[in-house]
Amino acid sequence: MEVLVMGSGGREHAICQQFLKSSKIGKLYCAPGNGGTSQIATNVSISVNEASNFNKLVDFVKENRVDFTFVGPEIPLSLGVVDYFEANGLKIVGPSKNGARLESSKIYSKEFMRKYGVPTAKYNCFSDVNDVLKFLDSCEKSQKIVLKADGLAAGKGVYICSSREEAKDVVNQIMNYRILGSAGVNIIIEEYIEGPELSCLVFTDGISYSIMPASQDHKRVNDNDQGPNTGGMGAYAPASLTMLNDYDLSKRIEVIIHKIINGMKNEGIDYKGVLYVGLIIKDFSPYVLEFNCRFGDPETQAILPLLDTDLTDICVAILNKKLGALKINWKKGFSVSVVLASSGYPGRFETGFEISGLENINTEDTMIFHAGTKFETGKFFTCGGRVLSITSRADNVRAAINKVYSSVRNIYFKNMHYRKDIAWMALNE
Ligand code: GLY
Repeated sequence: MEVLVMGSGGREHAICQQFLKSSKIGKLYCAPGNGGTSQIATNVSISVNEASNFNKLVDFVKENRVDFTFVGPEIPLSLGVVDYFEANGLKIVGPSKNGARLESSKIYSKEFMRKYGVPTAKYNCFSDVNDVLKFLDSCEKSQKIVLKADGLAAGKGVYICSSREEAKDVVNQIMNYRILGSAGVNIIIEEYIEGPELSCLVFTDGISYSIMPASQDHKRVNDNDQGPNTGGMGAYAPASLTMLNDYDLSKRIEVIIHKIINGMKNEGIDYKGVLYVGLIIKDFSPYVLEFNCRFGDPETQAILPLLDTDLTDICVAILNKKLGALKINWKKGFSVSVVLASSGYPGRFETGFEISGLENINTEDTMIFHAGTKFETGKFFTCGGRVLSITSRADNVRAAINKVYSSVRNIYFKNMHYRKDIAWMALNE
């Protein structure tokens, strides 16, 4: 089979590596890809984030007789790439534009949850800045307030404010100064829920679903969950919190997933691909924080190394709406993935530095996933905020942590920054 993967991050490099484990894959393309994917697939230099490029992607797929396309990131999904490909008679794994609204509109996703009885934080929606300010005046002065921009904001659309005044300031920035552009035209204010977060991803063909091992992302840039939020600085799977072993909690999460899949069916949404359900656990009860309509980054770099079923078979089953007939197996053990970033990320950072030491990594149980890298004159250079994800697998979480950090210490690029405490929660259990 010939397969095209859309995207350019660590997630897409992990997806490409997983496809290449299959004996069914003949040729693999990645659009636009990165330095890592250029070594294992053919990079196709077409940006996937503009709808005006969809015709170029369709032409490429037709000319190269690609059997199916797998979409990594949310932007092409929210722009309707799946609908466009299908209208052109092409096979593509990902939700339709309608399904992608679960991620591209926070207000839509909240209304969906309310309609289908999915537990989530209480909320109010606003489109007028004066109404928000009036509402905030009715809140306690030092109450924690969660503010969310309705649209896609590249991971920057959620604010946890520790006072009413701080929230007012953020509202001003988003709604008057438009720091998030059109993503902040409408906003949500929601109740703050405290507790550990879990990423629960499922494969689905819109009829059946299969839950992947739960994982946990580390969103803050510095150790001990300090500093600004990022796209994610590392992840581990399966999330081994004691509470997850609680039969009741796993059952409750399954009930939630069931409600979501049935809700989508009821709405007439054609959802083929991966649904990411972001959960927060309070007093042993799960609440849905957010949906993503795709694999998470960096969760994918921790989850896929545990997959023991051919990803190609999973995609074919999804495309044929036969996922219910496929048993998906997972390897025993744990994987821990650490993101190596350019210092300054998620703010301003410099790029163009040579990356060294990758050749010293023992790749038996350790995987190198590239994100912000480019390959030039036989060398890798940094070209983004999140540069690499290094993942190690082992029988227990401590061994996976030791293995991954001993690999990370072999790698060097100028201004390299990484968290030293990925998976700490698993050790505190
Ligand atoms: N790790 C969070 C995300 O993929 O959106």
